Amino acid sequence: MNTKLKGRDFLSTNDWTLEELEQVLDLSFKFKQERALRVPHDHILRGRELFMIFKDKSTRTRNSTETAMIQLGGHATYLPAEATQMSHGDTAKEIGIIFSRYGDGIAIRDDIYLGVGQKYMEDVAKWADVPVINLESDWDHPMQMLADIMTIKEKFNNDIKGRKFVISWAYAKSHAKPPAVPQGLIMMMPRFGLNVTLAMPKEFVLSPKAMEIAERNAKEAGVKFEVVNDMDEAFKDADIVYPKSWGAYYYAENNFDEMKKIADKYKDWIADERRMKLAKKNAIYMHCLPADRGAEVTNEVIDGPQSVIYDEAENRLHTVKAVLALTIR
Ligand code: CP
Repeated sequence: MNTKLKGRDFLSTNDWTLEELEQVLDLSFKFKQERALRVPHDHILRGRELFMIFKDKSTRTRNSTETAMIQLGGHATYLPAEATQMSHGDTAKEIGIIFSRYGDGIAIRDDIYLGVGQKYMEDVAKWADVPVINLESDWDHPMQMLADIMTIKEKFNNDIKGRKFVISWAYAKSHAKPPAVPQGLIMMMPRFGLNVTLAMPKEFVLSPKAMEIAERNAKEAGVKFEVVNDMDEAFKDADIVYPKSWGAYYYAENNFDEMKKIADKYKDWIADERRMKLAKKNAIYMHCLPADRGAEVTNEVIDGPQSVIYDEAENRLHTVKAVLALTIR
């Protein structure tokens, strides 16, 4: 086990080397196999405490992280921001220092406003003596990224280099989903040797910095990173399709009414059976969930044989267990 990760923050996959990410994945696979065999893990973080601050809702992230701490022998405290004194003045410095004195790790979800969440996490991490883990910001969703790459490795028996990975914008009635997942995917997937295609209508541009990192990572890995404005073109010959909605944050600059108007122009951006037929025969359909059925994806696709959404959601548990086991002292 790589003890160099002890005490480290995990605010973006960019902060960890490929070797470190692979080590987390190796441990995730081991935890998954051992859980199936009912091997206990409750000696690993016995008596440790993780504070989980949520400034937004969650099904998978909250429950996989809380369950991970319990399975590792520790405890997690769920802290919706409104149940704390943050709105009455508790600063990032105070949260970082005080929770470090009480416990052993801090995990934060803060993903609603562009330019806010990642900065908040970095501010907490500056003052915390314990690892700070990003549970989704406006910039990245590193825990989702690990579950996604674990799922891809699993489905293709680790034969993933050179495969075509498509992250495509898709229409959803809730038009303001954070850009963390598509940004995280374009930045990380090239590092694992995948050729990445980003598809979106022109208004759904992502952070220029994320695009720059994606291009650089693809160049360094010797793979392709391309951008297209046509969902059909993107799906052609794909091995992995990941169609999901995100808000036109960068185009409309946090103007939520404008973002809705823009999204409503593209209701035909849906993952349906016709589009799935454009991809390779053994292509997989991924989604981090929650998905907007009937808008982002049809029931036939999300419930169909190519969908891997339940394995993907399950892998959130094994990957977060590995990150917590490797980082918390
Ligand atoms: N995929 C994901 O982060 O799900 P939740 O929003 O339910 O945590």
